[in-house]
Amino acid sequence: MEHFARLLKESWTLVESDRERLSGHFYARLFLLDPELRTLFPAEMSGQGDRLLEAIVTATQTVDDPESFDEYLRALGRDHRKYHVDPAHYATMGVALMDALRSTAGDDWNLEYDQAWRDAYAAISAKMMAGAENDRNPPFWHGEVLTHERVGPDTAVLTCRALQYPLPWRAGQYVSVEVPRYLPRVWRTYSVANAPNDDNVLEFHVRTPTGAGWLSGALVRRVRPGDLLRLAAPMGSMTLDRSSTRDILAVAGGVGLAPVKALVEELATYNRTRWVHVFYGARRPADLYALPGLRELVEAHPWLSVTPACSEDPDFDGERGAVSDVVTRYGPWTNHDCYVSGSARMVRATLRALAEDEVPPSRIRYDTFGNL
Ligand SMILES: Cc1cc2nc3c(=O)[nH]c(=O)nc-3n(C[C@H](O)[C@H](O)[C@H](O)COP(=O)(O)OP(=O)(O)OC[C@H]3O[C@@H](n4cnc5c(N)ncnc54)[C@H](O)[C@@H]3O)c2cc1C
Ligand code: HEM
Repeated sequence: MEHFARLLKESWTLVESDRERLSGHFYARLFLLDPELRTLFPAEMSGQGDRLLEAIVTATQTVDDPESFDEYLRALGRDHRKYHVDPAHYATMGVALMDALRSTAGDDWNLEYDQAWRDAYAAISAKMMAGAENDRNPPFWHGEVLTHERVGPDTAVLTCRALQYPLPWRAGQYVSVEVPRYLPRVWRTYSVANAPNDDNVLEFHVRTPTGAGWLSGALVRRVRPGDLLRLAAPMGSMTLDRSSTRDILAVAGGVGLAPVKALVEELATYNRTRWVHVFYGARRPADLYALPGLRELVEAHPWLSVTPACSEDPDFDGERGAVSDVVTRYGPWTNHDCYVSGSARMVRATLRALAEDEVPPSRIRYDTFGNL
């Protein structure tokens, strides 16, 4: 296994610096092999990054043991039913990937590298196909927007009802969302901000970067009640371990609060014994849009406490500084189950803080909302 991982990493260094060329070859080859495949992708493919190829490369570089990523890959396969992907597409894509790698790497590419990539791609796609094949749900759900509230210049809270079929998510998970009316075939993942309920209603908290952001812009600025969204298979492992009796630490940055709120709602249905401490950080107090709702939950549940923190307001009447530093001040968290969600920077800093407290990695679940 180590040898296999080394081959994948070593060979990647031959193409890494020429990603644009790799991507150009890959799509040219893919759409030549099967022109129909072009219709699965967004109309405008430049400017939003090469999501698919990046994902395949990340998967081959990190998933050196597909068994340990079994559930993730199965869920990804279920999620891919939204693109109407079938097993023949996986095979075609494998051919395009190998051709693109060979022609970009040049003379230093060798048979061992070739075999390692083919094996890695085959193992990953087999898991994805198995996930898709065993899925009894529809490829996607239509969701009708019920409410839409702007809770800040860049942020909205919206709810939608999944129509026709129940959408079986677990608190803490996320789903892919598309707004067909404004941005057909552009899908992004958003955490569900409420616990499962009989009404099949999902809540989302969306923040869009000022002046940029395709889907988040549409969800925050354009979508109105009555609009239809499409939602794909729930994914993610930021879920509760119901058999655990440990207390819980949850750390959320900005709209990273969404999965944490869902977890707290789920705990509210059965928890009596576990202390739950939520840290909720943002730059400015106005960004702590969910604080009033959290305070109501604290009133109702004696096991819950919430500590807000602001990093850019020296007058804030609460904890000041990066939320990861605030968490450290309240620690140690060595015996807690930990949940972390927010920007990449915030998640990285919090994971470092928890590592210093020697929290075993198996007790930490986290989702990163972006690369920045
Ligand atoms: C597991 C998971 C859960 C998530 N949950 C949530 C959630 O609950 N709420 C939420 O709001 N987000 C969530 N996200 C993030 C979400 O999936 C999207 O990544 C985010 O909304 C940005 O998508 P977009 O289409 O709006 O941006 P894109 O258009 O794809 O842009 C991506 C990035 O590039 C930058 N960018 C784009 N265009 C420009 C430009 N012209 N100039 C400069 N920079 C530019 C943007 O700043 C942005 O950061 C989650 C992500 C993951 C992986
Ligand atoms: C090893 C196999 C594959 C992996 C690991 C993989 C992974 C991913 C991931 C993580 C994304 C981004 C998030 C998402 O939209 O779900 C993505 C996007 C996408 N995938 Fe896959 N995928 C694989 C195979 C395929 C195949 C066989 C097809 C169909 C031909 C396909 C079609 C797409 C499309 C159309 C997108 C959207 C691209 C965009 O928005 O620009 N994928 N893939």
